[in-house]
Amino acid sequence: MFGPKSHLTARDDHLYIDEVDCFALARNLGTPLYVTSERRLRENVLAYRSAFPDADLYFAMKANGNLTLLHIAVQEGMGADVFSSGEIFVARMAGFPREKILYNGNSKSEKDHEMALQAGVRMSVDSREELEDLSRTAQALDREAEILFRVNPDVSPKTHPKIATGLRSSKFGIPADQVAATYQRAEDLPGVLPVGLHCHIGSQILDTSPFAEAANKMMDIAEAVVKVGGKIKMIDLGGGLGIQYNPDAPAPSPADLAAAILPIFRDRCQEIGISPRLILEPGRSIVADTTVMLAGVNVIKRAHVNFAAVDAGFNALARPMIYDSYHHVVVANKADQPAKETYTVVGPICETGDVLAKDRRLPALERGDVLAFLDAGAYGFSMASQYNGQPRPAEVLVSGDRVEVTRRAEDASALLAGQSIPSRLMW
Ligand code: LLP
Repeated sequence: MFGPKSHLTARDDHLYIDEVDCFALARNLGTPLYVTSERRLRENVLAYRSAFPDADLYFAMKANGNLTLLHIAVQEGMGADVFSSGEIFVARMAGFPREKILYNGNSKSEKDHEMALQAGVRMSVDSREELEDLSRTAQALDREAEILFRVNPDVSPKTHPKIATGLRSSKFGIPADQVAATYQRAEDLPGVLPVGLHCHIGSQILDTSPFAEAANKMMDIAEAVVKVGGKIKMIDLGGGLGIQYNPDAPAPSPADLAAAILPIFRDRCQEIGISPRLILEPGRSIVADTTVMLAGVNVIKRAHVNFAAVDAGFNALARPMIYDSYHHVVVANKADQPAKETYTVVGPICETGDVLAKDRRLPALERGDVLAFLDAGAYGFSMASQYNGQPRPAEVLVSGDRVEVTRRAEDASALLAGQSIPSRLMW
């Protein structure tokens, strides 16, 4: 019923995630609720592992920062792509070994560099200017950092403009023609040891050809670096593989990605005479389809369209609002019923743009029904906010028929966290 998502089934009209009834879960724990299948998460890592047996897989932590899911990624042998010193902290707490953490970022402060140097993680340097700053900070701390250079490969990934990162016009990376000279400069600088190249061209990419184009450009740059005497021990081709959100828009698998880039990587490495490790940084394709977000129906309003107002809005799942993203909707307690009506599913936030799903054909809805938004595991909870006085929802892990809360729901006191009224105003 749900295509390749074997962890989701409909039984007696209810949606199950593995052996757990989503409607019963929503009733017991309340909504909104993020629910993740442990089995699916492990399967997704395995799919990458078999497609790329020789690569290092770094989970892009921005996609999902749940400590338990990160810990499972550690158990599965993954490293971590982090984008802030906060994510370094969480990565270490989850158990990622320091040598498998790559700290990316285009705007790192001196404090960020200091923390990364002290944590002993590798860094991806985003500009010539950052290189000089990092070298100074490393010297002051008497440390040496292994570094990669984030390259701007100028590739169009054919995705939503807000998540295209490898275009010449994007803020990320060093222009391709500056990389070899920057690498050479780094070889002479104290406190930094250049070990490789890094790129990431964008996210939710549904065609493998931009990855092949980027791989080729990266190998051209590697060749130029080697020509000026640079040593390349690792090449990180980033993340970005899309997933099938919409039943009508199939996505390539990790095996398809491997078929597109591995021959280029292998042949070109041989040609140039280098044998670097290949690193990939998948986020979405590891975690998106592991998770559903459950939301309760509060109101069915018959107006110029049928509105189904649920208890989760863009505070809980921001993607539809920000990127016009499609998340498939299943009625968790009417999973086998035929579609009868067309609904626009909206949240409780006081903005017109708070629409989670537009013009969806669904079974007739009523107050108390539970909607499941599929593929919510990537950039779902991690982008949630407390906007409009909405505490963030709980996250649970499902393993077989076992349910474990991995992050408890916030209550209203979370809205006050860290705040105090200056005492002079209390008189
Ligand atoms: N590596 C780097 C340097 C990245 O910037 C990203 C994502 C990834 C890896 C992982 O990409 P993935 O495999 O997940 O496509 N919030 C947006 C997506 C933003 C992606 C940012 N960078 C969304 O909800 O669609």
